[in-house]
Amino acid sequence: MATVTSTRPYHIIIFGASGFTGQFVVEEVARSAFEGPSGSLKWALAGRSRHRLEGVLNQAAETLRKPELRTEVEIIVADVSQADSLAIMCQQGLVVLNCVGPYRFYGEPVVKACIENGAHCVDICGEPQFLERMQLEYHSRAMDSGVYVIGSCGFDSIPADMGILYTKNQFKGTLTAVESFLTIHTGPEGGCAHDGTWQSAIYGFADSGSLRKLRKKFGHQPLPVVGATVKKRGSLFFSKEIDQYAIPFMGSDPSVVRRSQRFLYEGHQELPVRSNTTTHLYCLTGCLRAVTQRCYIVVLLMRRGLARQENNQLFPEFFSFGVFTKAGPSRKQMEGTSFSLTFFGEGYAEGLDPSQGRPNARICTQIHGAEPGYVATPVAMVQAAITVLNEPQFLPIKGGVYSPGAAFARTTLIDRLNRHGLVFSVKRF
Ligand SMILES: NC(=O)c1ccc[n+]([C@@H]2O[C@H](COP(=O)([O-])OP(=O)(O)OC[C@H]3O[C@@H](n4cnc5c(N)ncnc54)[C@H](OP(=O)(O)O)[C@@H]3O)[C@@H](O)[C@H]2O)c1
Repeated sequence: MATVTSTRPYHIIIFGASGFTGQFVVEEVARSAFEGPSGSLKWALAGRSRHRLEGVLNQAAETLRKPELRTEVEIIVADVSQADSLAIMCQQGLVVLNCVGPYRFYGEPVVKACIENGAHCVDICGEPQFLERMQLEYHSRAMDSGVYVIGSCGFDSIPADMGILYTKNQFKGTLTAVESFLTIHTGPEGGCAHDGTWQSAIYGFADSGSLRKLRKKFGHQPLPVVGATVKKRGSLFFSKEIDQYAIPFMGSDPSVVRRSQRFLYEGHQELPVRSNTTTHLYCLTGCLRAVTQRCYIVVLLMRRGLARQENNQLFPEFFSFGVFTKAGPSRKQMEGTSFSLTFFGEGYAEGLDPSQGRPNARICTQIHGAEPGYVATPVAMVQAAITVLNEPQFLPIKGGVYSPGAAFARTTLIDRLNRHGLVFSVKRF
């Protein structure tokens, strides 16, 4: 197996650069190139169609007013179904930013090729089954090669995962539990997400039953519980904290946060923080309830084999009530959209023994950022990669398959995100 070397032509290769999200990752890499090692970043685009990749480069050159991108940035042709092409791609880069999803269908050959050819792999997967399975099956192989495979480095799940670490660092004492609430604010143009995310989410929900079996295979011991138990939330509930209705978050955040907390407990003896991740119903333009109902219908049909992939791909607008579309959001819609993720934490004040009595101190923190799917996600993904390149000494000692919190707990990723518009702040103690 090859190991990572610094003599490769590219620091970063964006695989799936022609996808809806990939095109914005390309722009973000171009904007952040001065943050690479020694102040410059050598990078390339990769994907299965040279023609489409050229189109993305042209578009980025025009949008960013950087005509030099057309001539200076190389293109690598690679297809998930052709292992040789993935190997050749991985041998040329230090970090592969994998934007090819759904990851349950296309992700594994990329993880494998990265490990076998010594390239670190950063993805924006929001599918817990894939993320956990990669950890189960590839962690020790990645460790042996010194390769870091860091999944869910987009809006799913960097804000939730790093937000808990930030809250814990700001808390004066021992933080034991956190409940976080996501709010999406849309402007007059409205907002939506691209069909790629819908496909990933819907197959994930349909297969959520397989997670329990997968988790048994890890053979984990239960994590210690300190402080009051976290409130169990129903599928729709009224939250006094935010004075609104909310529903549980259906993405990868809870799984990712749990993995990070386990890593920090088992590897660094840090008391785990228990968490509830929820979505604030009111601010998602009021139609989330209808979307949720339709999601459940699709999932039910898929579980019974009645909704075939092709049908589901044809009608994302219908099934999601327009929240997911084939075209994705316009740039204008993206400009008008932002998110805030608010963390309500509780624990024991400094000097108090967390094993005695009830929690007696609270904290409220927040992350505020631009449009989550295609502005915040490229920022988070690119800053994750830049952290891997610039701060290898602060990553876990060996390679492996990690969640963002496990990989980046000791790095300056939060400061980097703050400088790029994902602003972490303490609202009140
Ligand atoms: N974490 C987050 O918050 C977040 C945010 C946004 C997106 N995502 C995830 O990112 C993924 C992509 O979403 P998207 O909306 O960008 O989807 P998309 O527009 O459909 O893009 C998919 C990309 O995969 C490429 N691809 C498909 N099959 C391939 C193959 N056999 N070999 C090589 N490339 C192949 C496509 O290439 P062609 O252009 O040649 O078809 C395209 O570049 C999804 O899993 C989504 O859930 C996550």
